[in-house]
Amino acid sequence: MSRAIEKMWDLLNDLEDILEGGYKTARVKLRVATSAASPAARPAAKSLTEGGTGDTGSAPARDTLEAIEAEVRACKRCELGLERIKAVPGAGPRNPRVFVIGEGPGAEEDRSGIPFVGPAGRYLDKWLSAIGLSRQTDTYIGNIVKCRPPGNRDPGPEEISACIPYLMRQIEILKPRTILTVGRIAAQVLLDTTRGIGAIRGQVYRFHEIPLVATYHPSGVLRNPEYRQAVWDDLKALKSLLDEA
Ligand code: URA
Repeated sequence: MSRAIEKMWDLLNDLEDILEGGYKTARVKLRVATSAASPAARPAAKSLTEGGTGDTGSAPARDTLEAIEAEVRACKRCELGLERIKAVPGAGPRNPRVFVIGEGPGAEEDRSGIPFVGPAGRYLDKWLSAIGLSRQTDTYIGNIVKCRPPGNRDPGPEEISACIPYLMRQIEILKPRTILTVGRIAAQVLLDTTRGIGAIRGQVYRFHEIPLVATYHPSGVLRNPEYRQAVWDDLKALKSLLDEA
């Protein structure tokens, strides 16, 4: 694709995000992941904490979710850590069938320290139960950034870079059977793209060999019910992957 066509594509996708009435206003160009994700089979990095994800920090020799949680709760790697009420490391069972990855905590999550407990979270629970999944037994839920961006703005590139090693370590420990990203930011970060979510969704990707489905964010769909059908198609794709496994 020539540079001009690529630029036009980016512009169209920017426009699409605006028309979607997106749940966030600012749009950032994100470059965090490297070649670890692709719809085609690109060779995966050796491990999530050994390249393929930018600055991954140094994971202890025998990493644990509890160690990550403790580090996240004490984290001051970026300004979000100075402004939060509570950090939101992630929650769910140890052998999840799905790792649901959102963007960052909102107000209710900031108060409770638990991911997706606000209106978007309640809607997400309905999506999961529609394909026979529950938060308690099947699904680990986390975010790209672990502390709330003030005013629910998009997390900035430095905040994402500072926080992403935690997510990579969580994925490495949990080894989820599948990943479901919700919203533009999570998909862009993990798939290393600047395309809009409407352009990204609709196919199965692989992130370090783990099948990944990208869909809209529940808050976006609450405001734009016309995306329900697309979400349902994405959830069915996720269910098929789980049924095949
Ligand atoms: N939105 C997100 O992306 N994550 C949460 O935890 C809550 C709302």
